[in-house]
Amino acid sequence: MLQALNESIKYIKNKIGDFNPEVGIVLGTGLGGLVNEIEIAHNIMYSSIPNFPISTLEFHSGKLIFGTLKGKKVVAMQGRFHYYEGYSMQQITFPIRVMKLLGIQYLFVSNAAGSLNPEFKKGDLMIITDHINLQPESPLRGLNNEDFGPRFPDMSQPYHKELTAKGLQIAKEQQITCHQGVYVSVTGPNLETKAEYKYLRIIGGDAVGMSTVPEVIVANHMGMPVFAISVLTDEGFPDDLKPVSLEEIIETASKAEPKMTQILSQLISSL
Ligand code: HPA
Repeated sequence: MLQALNESIKYIKNKIGDFNPEVGIVLGTGLGGLVNEIEIAHNIMYSSIPNFPISTLEFHSGKLIFGTLKGKKVVAMQGRFHYYEGYSMQQITFPIRVMKLLGIQYLFVSNAAGSLNPEFKKGDLMIITDHINLQPESPLRGLNNEDFGPRFPDMSQPYHKELTAKGLQIAKEQQITCHQGVYVSVTGPNLETKAEYKYLRIIGGDAVGMSTVPEVIVANHMGMPVFAISVLTDEGFPDDLKPVSLEEIIETASKAEPKMTQILSQLISSL
């Protein structure tokens, strides 16, 4: 993997010159609006980067965006990789390692998720304070590179406490409904049955989605502080479960997206 990473980084550095990003951002489904806030310096298609996976989802445009957001140098992933697309966990998290080796010191992650908590409604936001990994393996399975991080990384606090508190504070000041809670990651691509939503709530989940956790595990492995936020796009309440379509998920995500962008950009500017 080291050689593959070095090839990708060499290619990217050649394109971006002396632009040194401090903050990495992963933009979730229907949540690309933050890009409009970035003064773009460079823009690299995933498909042109050696060893980079290519998003199989049409609605993800698949680009690394380098630029300045509220005075901070950032690199944003427009489009991410999911296990259900057929990639390995190592492939999904490859861009996180690339961004870290390019110099980022913080990782900000967004996603669309289904609500499991009856108090958390469709269209609300939820800052992730902890997670339950129900995906079939860890991205750290296999030989460990000690230069990246320890064999058995600690997971007692995978989401940065102060960033979480600041994020909640910003939401409060802006009068945005923003909860905090536990995100459960599943593989998808199918959504959950009534019995599964019930089970995910019982085991301690507040929201469920198909991403984020592998990226967060790798960021923690590499010692990076993480802030993650979900836009709740549907309600997985088993007693009153309605069919959900991808169109509906994207529409809800797009509607709620400006609130999330406001929190993220204010939080990043405060770093
Ligand atoms: N389940 C899993 N993933 C999701 C959901 C859901 O209800 N909504 C958005 N992503």
